[in-house]
Amino acid sequence: MKKYKTNTESRVTISELMLPSHSNFSGKIHGGYILSLMDQIAFACASKHSETYCVTASVDKVDFLKPIEVGELVTLKASVNHVGNTSMVVGVRVESENIQTSKVKHCNSSYFTMVAKNDKGKSVPIPGLILENKTSIRRFVRSIIRKEDAVTRRNRFKDSEFDPESHFEILDQYNVKIDL
Ligand SMILES: CC(C)(COP(=O)(O)OP(=O)(O)OC[C@H]1O[C@@H](n2cnc3c(N)ncnc32)[C@H](O)[C@@H]1OP(=O)(O)O)[C@@H](O)C(=O)NCCC(=O)NCCS
Repeated sequence: MKKYKTNTESRVTISELMLPSHSNFSGKIHGGYILSLMDQIAFACASKHSETYCVTASVDKVDFLKPIEVGELVTLKASVNHVGNTSMVVGVRVESENIQTSKVKHCNSSYFTMVAKNDKGKSVPIPGLILENKTSIRRFVRSIIRKEDAVTRRNRFKDSEFDPESHFEILDQYNVKIDL
């Protein structure tokens, strides 16, 4: 019988204190370090849902909304927003807290598509998702729309069908010079 799980069963939260070794030349925390933590928590969450190892298939746009300072406590939260046959979309939210003032800021959110694999590297079916409240339905539907948008974008700019000349007028408004 097909198995279904709620996203509460696979929800993961991690907190980590930001050390000087995580900072870039301007003294703020390196974006790449945060992306690595996000990938780790997405992996943990997807592996909990699928009960197997997972690989990252794609990462949605990440906007760094606020810089993170050395000494702040960063908390990442992940939950499964959408499931396909072998893939899951994991939503990851990153917040950072100033320990002295307790002020919390939302630093970024993104969506990781993770694919479940068996020990031979083959993609394997995963449990379905029980949508138990309005938020989980909203997140599931948003993921469907995001996937549809990605397909439209991919097809619109297919190399074999792309006609540069039909875009010259638009490019006129940008900081570029066409020099073919
Ligand atoms: C992503 C990957 C697993 C897809 O493998 P594949 O054999 O081509 O798999 P399939 O075409 O059967 O697709 C499997 C699932 O992944 C999804 N998928 C594949 N590529 C995807 C992408 N770029 N974005 C979102 N979903 C994707 C498919 O929609 C499918 O989902 P479903 O089963 O829920 O319908 C494979 O390309 C891979 O292993 N990539 C490298 C992953 C990796 O090393 N990550 C770490 C980067 S350092």
